[in-house]
Amino acid sequence: MEVFTSVKSLRQYLDQQLLQQKTVGLVPTMGALHEGHISLIEAARKDTDIVVCSVFVNPTQFNNPEDLAKYPRTFEADRAMLENAGCSAVFAPSVEEMYPEQPVVKMNFGALETVMEGASRPGHFNGVGIVVSKLFNIVRPHRAYFGQKDLQQVSVVRQLVSDLAFGLELIVCPTVREKDGLAMSSRNTRLDATERAIAPHIYRILAGAGEELNAGRKVSEVVSWAKSEFGKIKEFTLDYFEVINLKTLLPIEKTGPAGSNAICVATLLGPVRLIDNIVF
Ligand code: PAJ
Repeated sequence: MEVFTSVKSLRQYLDQQLLQQKTVGLVPTMGALHEGHISLIEAARKDTDIVVCSVFVNPTQFNNPEDLAKYPRTFEADRAMLENAGCSAVFAPSVEEMYPEQPVVKMNFGALETVMEGASRPGHFNGVGIVVSKLFNIVRPHRAYFGQKDLQQVSVVRQLVSDLAFGLELIVCPTVREKDGLAMSSRNTRLDATERAIAPHIYRILAGAGEELNAGRKVSEVVSWAKSEFGKIKEFTLDYFEVINLKTLLPIEKTGPAGSNAICVATLLGPVRLIDNIVF
């Protein structure tokens, strides 16, 4: 596995691969890798010749300086996991390499970013849009792999690919969970033992709400039930719990056909902000 820290050396390597007609898959990450990330590498390996994983904690998408400072950085372990997973190349640039100058361009995703994560984390999707665009331009992949875990990010990136004609195929992979249901996340390592024991309630409440909605219960009743469940556990500070239309990301009062709805949640657990969702 090759490791590149400069855009120039990565480009030289990729130009060689393209001369040999190889197809390229890109898996963008911020490191602190877990099985969820590795599932994206595995998906990419199945349908592209060369898998590039970027590992870059992108400062422009953090609106909370403490979250950025405390974001776990575990490059040596990441590198070993990627090697084991059969990744072809890692791109791990410094902040200066990625941003020789502070970008001036601003990205606005309209209605897609006025809800949920966009509403709670002003500027977050501007930063995601900029870094993902830069990675797409640097790597020029045939396919790019993203996790359903970050449902709103998937919508934003889909819009980006379409609006800016990136000419790549976006592949969305299912959320990988711990045995107890907790969605894998780099931020889970910041939970203390008590918080970690409480964390599976997030998925329990999500899945419970999904079952109730599938059984035909009213959205407003299910949302009230879920909020009261979160309220019973003092360690949670719920940010939002919403039943939405998967396309518009807007809250709905009545669910649509199977596969067109999602339930999205964000909550603080102690100092850590966790998100999860299910599509139904
Ligand atoms: P990061 O949080 O490291 O996630 C990298 C990719 O892994 C994202 O596409 C995310 O949705 C996916 N992922 C995370 N947890 C997952 C899980 N439990 N199951 C399946 N996939 C999972 O998302 C980002 O980084 C950044 O915003 C990035 C796109 C790299 C831009 O900086």
